[in-house]
Amino acid sequence: MDTMKDVDTRDLIIVLDFGAQYNQLIARRIRECRVYSEILPSGTPTAEIIARGPKGIVFSGGPSSVYEEGAPLCDPALFKAGIPILGICYGMQLMGKMLGGEVRAGTTKEYGKTELTVLDQGDIFQGLNPRLIAWMSHGDRVEQAPPGFTVTARTESAMAAMSDRKRKLFGVQFHPEVVHTPWGTEVFRNFLYEQCGCQGTWTTESVVAQAMAQVQEQVGKGRVICALSGGVDSSVVAALMHRAIGKQLTCVFMDHGFMRKDEATQVVKAFREHFHVNLVHAKVQDRFLTALRGVADPEEKRRIIGQEYAAVLEEEASKIKEAEFLAQGTLYPDVIESGTKQAARIKTHHNVGGLPETLRLKLVEPVRYLFKDEVRAVGEELGLPDEIVWRHPFPGPGLAIRILGEVTEERLETLREADAVIIEEIRSAGLYRRLFQVFGVLAPVKSVGVMGDQRTYANTLIVRAVTSDDAMTADWAHLPYEVLGRISTRIINEVPGVNRVAYDISSKPPATIEWE
Ligand code: XMP
Repeated sequence: MDTMKDVDTRDLIIVLDFGAQYNQLIARRIRECRVYSEILPSGTPTAEIIARGPKGIVFSGGPSSVYEEGAPLCDPALFKAGIPILGICYGMQLMGKMLGGEVRAGTTKEYGKTELTVLDQGDIFQGLNPRLIAWMSHGDRVEQAPPGFTVTARTESAMAAMSDRKRKLFGVQFHPEVVHTPWGTEVFRNFLYEQCGCQGTWTTESVVAQAMAQVQEQVGKGRVICALSGGVDSSVVAALMHRAIGKQLTCVFMDHGFMRKDEATQVVKAFREHFHVNLVHAKVQDRFLTALRGVADPEEKRRIIGQEYAAVLEEEASKIKEAEFLAQGTLYPDVIESGTKQAARIKTHHNVGGLPETLRLKLVEPVRYLFKDEVRAVGEELGLPDEIVWRHPFPGPGLAIRILGEVTEERLETLREADAVIIEEIRSAGLYRRLFQVFGVLAPVKSVGVMGDQRTYANTLIVRAVTSDDAMTADWAHLPYEVLGRISTRIINEVPGVNRVAYDISSKPPATIEWE
């Protein structure tokens, strides 16, 4: 896994990943304490870790048992490197086992919110109450702390934390990174500031300054193309690049006609009129519609859109003389997960925005080390409008995959209008930021209705609203009936061609967020 070489490493914390479900959360919590952190695989050579000069190391949890054959270990030399270490769950058990303590499978598992008594407030529990509620999820436990360690917290049935202050080695059996351990941030803060001596210099301003410096160094006087979609990631990248290299940047905004209502205008206004960015507004709606004519199969639609997108981008890029680089909004979770993901292909995702190989452009990825919430903070810092910074995720193929069946201009218009009503009502009910996504889907069914004294035979519009943290799982949102009622009434009254509105009450899994 690559690393951010030029980051100010005085304040680096390395999270060694032992396979935990929550490893990204650990890195985020540390960064919330204004300390830069990176996740590295547990097998990273010790020399490499030490060469990075981290101020501290966190061992994540993981699904293995330390006493099983093949369980991931670390190099014992790490414990002697003089770098403070915090072991979480499996990380604590590993420390227990490798340093001469005793680790066993417990007779009872601890799972969920568990009461804990602090026995020693001298290090990572400094300033906290002696009785706390923590989130536990483990079967194995450290029975006997290794020589040099003292037990600093217990639950009714197990050791909950141990410390060796002299060597600055700390272990916690609970998960300080999850929201169910609300004081967990204090544990990190104590570790980072008191034990590792971190300064807390990782702020949005420093992130922007650093990213700009890196871009300037990488690009020099070269020209850069940025494919702008109007979504958060590409917008932040465009604004950041513009601040770093000004007129060396040209943004290509692909108006494929599948955007939400007024979105194209908003993007053009923000980037061309407000930021004065060189912007190519590629109005290629007809081209995409023609390519999709008669196509109803979801994967086929995605494939065609991806292909057209690459072709248009290539054409536009070839008009920009001497372009050397392509800026892309890759985020840190993509970096961490790339190469390790073996999930079955459910949908051809992220099929747009890819780099046509024939272009031979070098990639610039200025937000490659940031989490989504950090990207949003950077967007705010750069003065992007709220509608862009806080916009819900939107699939690359846009409304085309929310129109089930063939995509036509008329059906696009119907969905766009209905979708605008949904978003307007959700915003005015103050629910927009509480939802991960909310949108309309146009079903390929017509049904009978009655309007005035007339029989109607018209379209069905489905409302989809979900809550989620990362789109991997999602719950259907329990929207208030009044809000659903207003959405339904307004769509049926205001959007021609719709006489019925339904609400999707499926969670992911087994459904997905989008319908295609
Ligand atoms: P699903 O439907 O798989 O979607 O539950 C998960 C998340 O991904 C978004 N999505 C896409 N994003 N290109 C993207 O950039 C795509 O082709 C694409 N398809 C789905 C979806 O909106 C949700 O947030």
